[in-house]
Amino acid sequence: MAQIIAEVSRTFNEFLLLPNRTRTDCSPATVDLRTPLSRHRVGERAAIELHAPFTSAIMQAVSSPELAIALARNGGLSFLHHNQPIEDQAAAVRQVKHFKAGFVTSDTNVRPEDTLGHLLGVMRRTGHSTAAVTHDGTATGRLLGLVTSRDFHPQRHDLAGSVAGRMTPVADLPHAPADTTLSEANARLWDERLDCLPLLDARGHLQHLVFRSDYSDNKRFPHQLVDPAKRLRVGAGINTHDYRERVPALLEAGVDALCFDSSDGYSDWQAEALAWVKENHPDVPTGGGNVVDGEAFAFLAEAGADFVKVGVGGGSICITRDQKGIGRGQASAVLDVAAARDAFLERTGEYVPICSDGGLVHDYHVALALAMGADFVMMGRYFARFDQAPGAKVPTREGFVKEYWGEGSNRARNWQRYGQGGQEMVFEEGVDGYVPYAGDLNEGLAVTTAKLRTTMVSCGSTTLPVFRSTARLTLVSDQSFEESHANVILRDTPATLA
Ligand code: IMP
Repeated sequence: MAQIIAEVSRTFNEFLLLPNRTRTDCSPATVDLRTPLSRHRVGERAAIELHAPFTSAIMQAVSSPELAIALARNGGLSFLHHNQPIEDQAAAVRQVKHFKAGFVTSDTNVRPEDTLGHLLGVMRRTGHSTAAVTHDGTATGRLLGLVTSRDFHPQRHDLAGSVAGRMTPVADLPHAPADTTLSEANARLWDERLDCLPLLDARGHLQHLVFRSDYSDNKRFPHQLVDPAKRLRVGAGINTHDYRERVPALLEAGVDALCFDSSDGYSDWQAEALAWVKENHPDVPTGGGNVVDGEAFAFLAEAGADFVKVGVGGGSICITRDQKGIGRGQASAVLDVAAARDAFLERTGEYVPICSDGGLVHDYHVALALAMGADFVMMGRYFARFDQAPGAKVPTREGFVKEYWGEGSNRARNWQRYGQGGQEMVFEEGVDGYVPYAGDLNEGLAVTTAKLRTTMVSCGSTTLPVFRSTARLTLVSDQSFEESHANVILRDTPATLA
């Protein structure tokens, strides 16, 4: 006979945190958000520690190289999606690994024989006022000069004239070798009062530009997640079908961590695939999932998963529960799996971190997920709202929105994620829609992080392990949920002081 689990399946909205005593040395500035990404023995450090407990979902609408760069600069990690050919995903990994903060690949490039009118059009398109003049008009051609918006004026100069006539030729241009470090480049920018320093290889081909205006920008990201060679870290999603070919290609491209991406990870296929990765590439942290209970967690942990993702049916674009009647409230799932993780630690001496994936709609849901035991969270909807996400920004009567679609939607057709018995999707498990546009990731994530820090301080903790081991949570009735919101008629405009 079927087993009925007595406990009701609950979501984050049904809980609130109780404040704990806050001591004087506990303040938002002293909160440390570092958290392990991967399996490690008790008393040891994980091979990779996130500097902030955020990862971005393995989705086409979310984890592009641009978003991965922005998130890693803020201490988190993206998992680039695998619903693309192996070589494209490997190229996306390379794009992140090749990013060098402060070293700009020139996007405004012309040839010397191009007209000033053409140059003006290129500058308008890119929004940048410094153009590289290279022999072939590419970002890595032989550098012949630089031309900036200060070198010509559309009303004063003949726009049919050539770029060569107004550029500063490379012979008169301070430049530096390609292996110049950022601090050396910055020193030259300031010492020689330059706006821009081109870095050239031995053949005189342009590699990067370093701008004085980026100097303070580079100081903005003290928590960047980088590898020992100071390159940003990036993860990649993989599937249980082509991992034998995909994993070596991703490793060759420099990927830092992998994660099997499946709507139901409690399967022999995933255990077999995990065993293969661990046998052939034991050093790359590889996660598994998704699961919603302790039994499935233990299965994947024993199969070798270095972390386990939790969540079925809670995603904002997800219709798995409607379509298949499978899933579990995200709060219940995290609490159950966290207990299994702790039991696994007790039994084996090994800590296998867990990730709460999907269903985080409000910023405070992040704090609840971490308080309930998640080591880090994965978010799709949240990141899809930002400029750096790949979805188009669309104007509506109420303001801008961004496109966001599920991996199980007709638009994505990610059949590898959904075991529907073939190489085709028979029915949708996700929808295609929009999310409210939220601007720049750096600014949005700073607000979310500030809220998390202050919640932790109210709960008397400055580290995530202390936060979850001392958290006290209360269930919320419908009536007290009502009380949680503002109960006045809100002013449209801020009150002015008399
Ligand atoms: P969100 O943060 O609530 O938007 O949820 C994102 C998560 O939903 C992803 O990390 C996946 O685990 C899951 N997901 C992605 N696409 C689909 C889909 O089409 N159907 C169901 N779940 C999905």
